[in-house]
Amino acid sequence: MLVSAAEMLKKAKAGKYAVGQFNINNLEWTKAVLLTAQENNSPVILGVSEGAGKYMGGYKTVVGMVNGMLEELKITVPVALHLDHGSYDHCYKCIEAGFSSVMFDGSHYSIEENVAKTTELVAAAHAKGLSIEAEVGSIGGEEDGVVGMGECADPNECKMVADLGVDFLAAGIGNIHGKYPANWAGLSFETLDAIQKLTGDMPLVLHGGTGIPTEMIQEAISLGVAKINVNTECQLTFAAATRKYIEAGKDLEGKGFDPRKLLGPGFEAIKATVKEKMEIFGSVNKA
Ligand code: 13P
Repeated sequence: MLVSAAEMLKKAKAGKYAVGQFNINNLEWTKAVLLTAQENNSPVILGVSEGAGKYMGGYKTVVGMVNGMLEELKITVPVALHLDHGSYDHCYKCIEAGFSSVMFDGSHYSIEENVAKTTELVAAAHAKGLSIEAEVGSIGGEEDGVVGMGECADPNECKMVADLGVDFLAAGIGNIHGKYPANWAGLSFETLDAIQKLTGDMPLVLHGGTGIPTEMIQEAISLGVAKINVNTECQLTFAAATRKYIEAGKDLEGKGFDPRKLLGPGFEAIKATVKEKMEIFGSVNKA
């Protein structure tokens, strides 16, 4: 059964480790993440972006697929199904569809509007037992080929949003989605420390988990990060393994064109990446 992410992240913050949010894009991805979590006795969060939800046939399709796998693959570790960077409308759609957690990304609104919408969504999510993540300070990334540098959130605004009753909080600390540029300045631990001092026990979320050096990840965890999002790294590893398989010509021989064979190396590659991240984040054997 799906669970809200509130409890697992409270435990992670207290135990000084982080739970990975791995974004899913299709059946193979979902199965790879769930099986790896079970094999490593780790809690896990399945992230679904609005685009990925649409690609997979809609939120209800995703809920049906994940619930079916939990039962039939006998997954017993805690699993949350979480909307990633949700708009106001899509948070409601996922609450209705059966997700167990949502992120409302109101970072592009003024702080007053972010506060008003977050307050309303906290009540709607909690009324149905879901956990809710909010964001303060936008997290950079590639848009139209230009990689924006990550901003740092204002710690006082973080405190204001944390006090609305959200279960965990994403704050920009110089992190960005996708690959980091060569001249990236690194994470701002000064900002993270100031946010943690003001927000106390609130589990903090680090987006843009791809390509952050292990030492920085560990320092972030020591300063209150309890959830780390990874998307691009699974995509890169999946694409590289699939390309290698195709270049070896195996898809053209025998039954190599069978999608169950063609997608096999990518599936194994995601499993290996997820396992490596769970080890770095310290969530192995924390289920
Ligand atoms: P990456 O794509 O950089 O791994 O970031 C994932 C993320 O933060 C999803 O919200």
